Amino acid sequence: MQQRETWGSRAGFIMAAVGSAIGLGNIWRFPYMVYENGGGAFLIPYFVAMLLAGIPFMILEYGLGHRFKGSAPRIFASISKRAEWLGWWQVLVAFIIATYYVVVIAWAIDYFLMSFSLGWTEAPKDFFFGEFLGLTDSPMNLGDIQWNIFGAATAAWVIAFGAVFTGIRGGVERLNKIFMPLLFILVLVFIGRGLMLPGAMDGLNWLFKPDFSAIMKAQVWADAFGQIFFSLSVGFAIMLAYSSYLKDDSDINNNACMTVFINCGFSMLSGLMIFSVLGYMAGQQGVPVSEVAGAGVGLAFVTLPTAINLMPMPVFFGVLFFLALTVAGLSSMISITEAVVSALIDKLGMSRRKAASLVCGVGFMVSSLFTTGGGLYLLDIVDHFVNNFGILIGGFAEIAFVAWFCDLEGMRRYVNKVSEFAVGGIWTICLRIVTPLMLGALVLMNLYTDLTANYGGYSTTAVVLFGWLVLFGCIVLSMIFPCRECAFADHVAKNNTFRQRS
Ligand code: ALA
Repeated sequence: MQQRETWGSRAGFIMAAVGSAIGLGNIWRFPYMVYENGGGAFLIPYFVAMLLAGIPFMILEYGLGHRFKGSAPRIFASISKRAEWLGWWQVLVAFIIATYYVVVIAWAIDYFLMSFSLGWTEAPKDFFFGEFLGLTDSPMNLGDIQWNIFGAATAAWVIAFGAVFTGIRGGVERLNKIFMPLLFILVLVFIGRGLMLPGAMDGLNWLFKPDFSAIMKAQVWADAFGQIFFSLSVGFAIMLAYSSYLKDDSDINNNACMTVFINCGFSMLSGLMIFSVLGYMAGQQGVPVSEVAGAGVGLAFVTLPTAINLMPMPVFFGVLFFLALTVAGLSSMISITEAVVSALIDKLGMSRRKAASLVCGVGFMVSSLFTTGGGLYLLDIVDHFVNNFGILIGGFAEIAFVAWFCDLEGMRRYVNKVSEFAVGGIWTICLRIVTPLMLGALVLMNLYTDLTANYGGYSTTAVVLFGWLVLFGCIVLSMIFPCRECAFADHVAKNNTFRQRS
């Protein structure tokens, strides 16, 4: 078996983990989630989810990676051969996310380049959906490849490939040590100027004004938990892979808390960034803040460019915003790719270079589908199903398996032994009861919603083809992969004492 690489320093690991966590989810998705769920009210379930699910789960994933020293399939196979499928499920989910995530990064790269000339024109909405995406009338009509998006997606794949190909210290860690400080500088400079805009405070008031009636809605809680999992990169093989490169004497609990707090702190910064702009825009247009933003994709690629057009120094704001989005996306993209690459290295005993070439080559081909005129529809459907089922089922199965059927108390002793501070019984309670119950309820709720109505009003053929069949494909493949003889059989035999419930 090849010697496992390790991170060069603690700071290097934290930067990489934070780089993975902070991504499109923070800058693009978080403000939109807050917006959709009644402004400040969303922050209450969000922080509850962070404390009760995010931190305990992050500690668990770091503990598993550190103890079993492997990618997700190797970790679960080490615990029980019959659980290897769960690792593959998570890896497949990560792979699918990589194929469309890269396309949103490609949009950000194109918009970054366009910021210098405000190339999104005076009508950003028509430009985005028309000239830029070449949006067709349905997901079944793919139309043509949009070459500017394809080109930028190729560039993003090349950067992710370069980082993963070069290895943990030489590639992933080195790049994150540049990307993370750069990202914080970009966002802080943006906020520093953005908060001085007239009307910015109205946007922030709206962001932080709690509307307590919203927290009675189940959907708000579902969104908060979903957002925490996606944003923290837990439940889809990433943090397991990253923590498997920790040295034996590395701290777990403090590193996990730092990653979560920095990530969620950054989400708040993104909130300040976006809502100061929304407040300004509302003031300019003479409408309430609640009326200016569009949903989802529209917030970053339609509303922001519209607001930037109205601002003093539009090039300055445009460049900062879209460069920040690109950098945040790339550092996460690298981690998603690494989760898949490390699984192939472990399973097939392949060299890192071969595995990186294979994963990025196949990923690149698949992602070209999302650069077509129908790409936005495909992306929307696949993202919905992968987030609502892929990540949540993977996370639920992982927590339920480890907390209910393995020696969770042993894991608590294990993480405490190597950590700067210890976690108490509350950690066990969160993982045995709170988190699995919340996740289980979420999956059932999502199932009910998606079985009773087609997501987004798309046709049944489209939803079945790009939603349900994608999930079904993941199930089938995750059952097939474990059948093959693997390079980690000896590792498995040495490590299976964890599979006894305390
Ligand atoms: N955690 C990454 C994000 O938030 C995937 O975008």
